[in-house]
Amino acid sequence: MINAVKLDAAADAVHTAFPNARPQCGLILGSGWGDVVIGFNVLGELPYDKIPNMGKTAVTGHAGKLLWAESNGGTQTLIFQGRRHFYEGEGWTPVAIPPFILESFDVRTVILTNAAGGIRPDLKPGMLMIVRDHINFIGSNPLIGPHDSTWGTRFPDQSHVYASDLRHLLHRAGATARVPMAEGVYLAGSGPCYETPAEIRMFKTLGADAIGMSTVPEAILLSAAGIRVGAISCITNLAAGISPTPLSHEEVTEATRLAMPSMTAVIANIWKELAHEKN
Ligand code: HPA
Repeated sequence: MINAVKLDAAADAVHTAFPNARPQCGLILGSGWGDVVIGFNVLGELPYDKIPNMGKTAVTGHAGKLLWAESNGGTQTLIFQGRRHFYEGEGWTPVAIPPFILESFDVRTVILTNAAGGIRPDLKPGMLMIVRDHINFIGSNPLIGPHDSTWGTRFPDQSHVYASDLRHLLHRAGATARVPMAEGVYLAGSGPCYETPAEIRMFKTLGADAIGMSTVPEAILLSAAGIRVGAISCITNLAAGISPTPLSHEEVTEATRLAMPSMTAVIANIWKELAHEKN
């Protein structure tokens, strides 16, 4: 269950560290995505151990820093370089802190990123996939617990978690960057195990195109809070049973390293599009 007192303490620390921050957007960077920030002008940084209750990302490929940054187009953005996961075993509070901080700054738009295994045959390592919809297979939900109106109503609608205008914007950014962008359904499992081949066959039948262990909780919280959410997966491997080799986190981070030019170009173009939107 989310601890609201702990969320408040975390947000207070960020408002104290960045008193002049007026971010319009947020960016949460998953495994291997940390370096896409090179196009931003960093105005301030705060390591996660300075954010109460955020803890440290124990996952390699996650820097564990919050950046207050500005894009070339002048869009202020809070960038979380690394996320906490449900499988780390500390419950939903650390996972909910970035969405809560973004909500506390009244941001309008948040882009979530992750590394994912490809289930649909056309989704090959190195490709980027815009998330059209998700399946929450974590076995829990971050909104379980007393109702907190920060996250909207008691029973949030999930028909449009990923805003269609933002999906179109992501497609435009991909086209401008000349990076092919697929679109599909992302399924989040709890992890930390990768899946068995039998599980992947089941998930394929259920309509999943790609699989990972994150993103869905943040998307649930942010969309419930009325914030526009978009998400992009970097396909880092073929899912279990499709891949001829055993899965490993090293394979995942190596694939994101190879895809970094595409990821960086797409992120830069998304922020160009977001700057146009303001006018
Ligand atoms: N399964 C789950 N999570 C993942 C995978 C996968 O194949 N690849 C990257 N994150």
